[in-house]
Amino acid sequence: MGSLWGSITLLFGVGLLRMEGSRAQQAKHNVPRLKLFYKDMLESNNLVIFEGLANSSSYHTFLLDEEKGRLVVGAKDHIFSFNLLNISKDYAQIPWPASPTRRDECKWAGKDISRECSNFIKVLQPFNHTHLYACGTGAFHPVCSYLEVGKKAEDSVFRLEPHIENGRGKSPYDPKLLTASMLIDGELYAGTSADFMGRDFAIFRTLGKHHPIRTEQHDSRWLNDPRFVGVHLIPESDNPEDDKIYLFFRENAIDGEHVGKATHARIGQLCKNDLGGHRSLVNKWTTFLKARLICSVPGSNGIDTHFDELQDVFLMSTKDPKSPIIYAVFTTSSNIFKGSAVCIYSMTDIRRVFLGPYAHRDGPNYQWVPFQGRVPYPRPGTCPSKTFGGFDTTKDLPDEVVTFARSHPAMFNPVYPINNRPIIVKTDVDYQFTQIVVDKVEAEDGQYDVMFIGTDVGTILKVVSIPRGSWHDLEEVLLEEMTVFREPTAITAMELSTKQQQLYLGSDIGVSQMPLHRCEVYGKACAECCLARDPYCAWDGTECSRYFPMAKRRTRRQDIRNGDPLTQCSDLQHHDELNGQMTLVDKTVYGVENSSTFLECSPKSQRALTYWQFQRSTDDHKQEIKSEERFIRTDQGLLIRSLNKKDSGIYLCQAVEHGFMQTLLKVTLEVIDTSRLEDLLHGDGEVAASAPAQEVPLTPNHKLWYRDFLSLVNHPTLNSVDEFCEQVWKRERKHRRQKAHVVQQVQLHQQQQQQKVVVNPHTHMHAQGLAAKWKHLQERQKGRNRRTHELERAPRSV
Ligand SMILES: *[C@@H]1O[C@H](CO)[C@@H](O)[C@H](O)[C@H]1NC(C)=O
Ligand SMILES: *[C@@H]1O[C@H](CO)[C@@H](O)[C@H](O)[C@H]1NC(C)=O
Ligand SMILES: *[C@@H]1O[C@H](CO)[C@@H](O)[C@H](O)[C@H]1NC(C)=O
Ligand SMILES: *[C@@H]1O[C@H](CO)[C@@H](O)[C@H](O)[C@H]1NC(C)=O
Repeated sequence: MGSLWGSITLLFGVGLLRMEGSRAQQAKHNVPRLKLFYKDMLESNNLVIFEGLANSSSYHTFLLDEEKGRLVVGAKDHIFSFNLLNISKDYAQIPWPASPTRRDECKWAGKDISRECSNFIKVLQPFNHTHLYACGTGAFHPVCSYLEVGKKAEDSVFRLEPHIENGRGKSPYDPKLLTASMLIDGELYAGTSADFMGRDFAIFRTLGKHHPIRTEQHDSRWLNDPRFVGVHLIPESDNPEDDKIYLFFRENAIDGEHVGKATHARIGQLCKNDLGGHRSLVNKWTTFLKARLICSVPGSNGIDTHFDELQDVFLMSTKDPKSPIIYAVFTTSSNIFKGSAVCIYSMTDIRRVFLGPYAHRDGPNYQWVPFQGRVPYPRPGTCPSKTFGGFDTTKDLPDEVVTFARSHPAMFNPVYPINNRPIIVKTDVDYQFTQIVVDKVEAEDGQYDVMFIGTDVGTILKVVSIPRGSWHDLEEVLLEEMTVFREPTAITAMELSTKQQQLYLGSDIGVSQMPLHRCEVYGKACAECCLARDPYCAWDGTECSRYFPMAKRRTRRQDIRNGDPLTQCSDLQHHDELNGQMTLVDKTVYGVENSSTFLECSPKSQRALTYWQFQRSTDDHKQEIKSEERFIRTDQGLLIRSLNKKDSGIYLCQAVEHGFMQTLLKVTLEVIDTSRLEDLLHGDGEVAASAPAQEVPLTPNHKLWYRDFLSLVNHPTLNSVDEFCEQVWKRERKHRRQKAHVVQQVQLHQQQQQQKVVVNPHTHMHAQGLAAKWKHLQERQKGRNRRTHELERAPRSV
């Protein structure tokens, strides 16, 4: 009951509908439209799971190989190779534990034998056509090796080379620490920690033909206790000499940059062809620069709320390989409240910051200021190339450039997100975001970015950003929230296969796989499919199914931008009405005077607003149920406290979503007055003798039994017990006949009916009423701005 009472919302009268409605709508804005629990996901065949090995855990390192149709996963003491079609089907595993000697050393060093002294795989990168490169913590002694995977899928080779290399500068020692790595042209770029104590953090380049190179050691201006989340290569021009490596990490703010201890999110850049300096910065990066990534929302008190704990980044490619869109997930550092946000950044903004002023201070006790002096040439951070630099190698850089680069690794200006604010913020929930992947989806009215966001409680949020006119005005629609692990656990790895249309998820306890779309769950009607606003799905003339841009146009209905079933489905209205009957439950409920009753009505969509209408009889006019103490509207239905005889009548539960109104439930409530109930219960044995349910004994529980029994019958006039029982018999028979008739009808329309649904003669009239209402709505719709707030379009009184 806690949640039921907690979610009490105000009832509204005619005048209140807009005001309360819009407030309620705002509250609903962040709510997922559909919520699918773990059980739902499994039972509807929307989840395939690998529950993990008893002697393993930490399924955190993913490598997707769409060509070979495999997902390679690094975990504790094992590497797995899963079939992308079905991860539970035929997977291969290679045990790669730390040697007993290393485990003993690790234990003697005071580490936890089961949680730390194992080989946690941290690096899995494609090396050449036949091999991957893999590294693990090796019980606080990092190790690397080559993993043979074969050239083609058919080869089905999965074998670890016996030769083990030193993994220092590639994998961290401590499994708790993250490594972000990328192998390009035989060289491994890794942001990691390179010592047992976990103090020497650096960005390394190892392997390959060059001498290993790294960031300056023990200089907090370069890196200050960083945690790396991603490495990417982004070309700067059409000349590969200008290629840059970008690293995404969070770290402690530099002294004096911020009062107290604070975390900053960072983007760092390096030139791929950096070979280090000649006289100073030997075997150190000479082109390293970093800038702060801002993701914040302005507060009402003028103080911004900052999301600084960068968790993950995803690069969404665009037509121009030089300008991917950067999606980044952040959480707050605050102990007081949990908050998460997604911000997106453009490469134009990032490059502008790296070309802007360097952060400078004259000494430890000075403020950081933009450097105003003369910047040496070539400008530090420029790659040696013919395009921009006009020099051949970083070893040729003038000393003053290297000296300047060494003392000015940070840019003064931060990078602000596109639109200057997050595209998603979540602060009202008890979970946080951990991972993100984004899919570009072709829909009838354009291209959409669909985000899949992993959380620390084992759920995935599916969100679509819809332009409200321009790219700079995006509306986020939270389509689904799905639980993908059997217990709450942080999602730590995520890969999306466009080829398979599947999403793969890693956590401490296992690996899960789910499809990107489940169009059938939105419902069978055109309107339901349209309201879902899922770019993957369209109404195809018979059901909600996968949308294929290449298929024939005529029968498909989809409207992602507006989610407007009135324009999309109104010509199908009659058909839909028939379909609609499937969801319209029409029943009779009995209540006892002075007791309370609950009329259950919860729309499938959590985004829909429900409201209630009351009608004394079928011919009477309908009125909104007024807000008062006795009526309490909840997300599950309407609670009526202390029933009054005059509450008898018809209750209509309406769901309004995006300007579309549906009647979900029609209940006829009969209030039985207490005196009659007394008669019924204490009158005599006749009830038991003649009632059909006579095997039910008249125990002290009979009150309960009566209430149940009463709700099964139609309209007793209750003049006397005898008459009542007579009626029960008759109605039961009639009811059965009606039911049989209904079954025929249902078969006719190939519809499923819920067991307890009682169809009454008003159904037909009701359908006509709806048809008229629909016409009316269509009229109102014409000439109106389609972006008008939905509640203005909701009927205010009918
Ligand atoms: C995946 O494979 C398992 C085991 O063979 C099977 O039970 C399951 O139905 C398959 N799931 C799907 C979605 O193909
Ligand atoms: C873990 O258990 C599996 C069997 O479930 C076995 O094949 C594997 O060798 C074991 N791994 C280690 C590192 O002992
Ligand atoms: C890939 O690299 C591995 C490890 O160095 C080597 O044994 C193998 O021959 C290479 N394969 C190709 C096709 O170059
Ligand atoms: C029902 O409640 C009303 C108002 O509280 C009260 O006057 C009346 O006596 C109650 N009836 C019974 C039968 O308890």
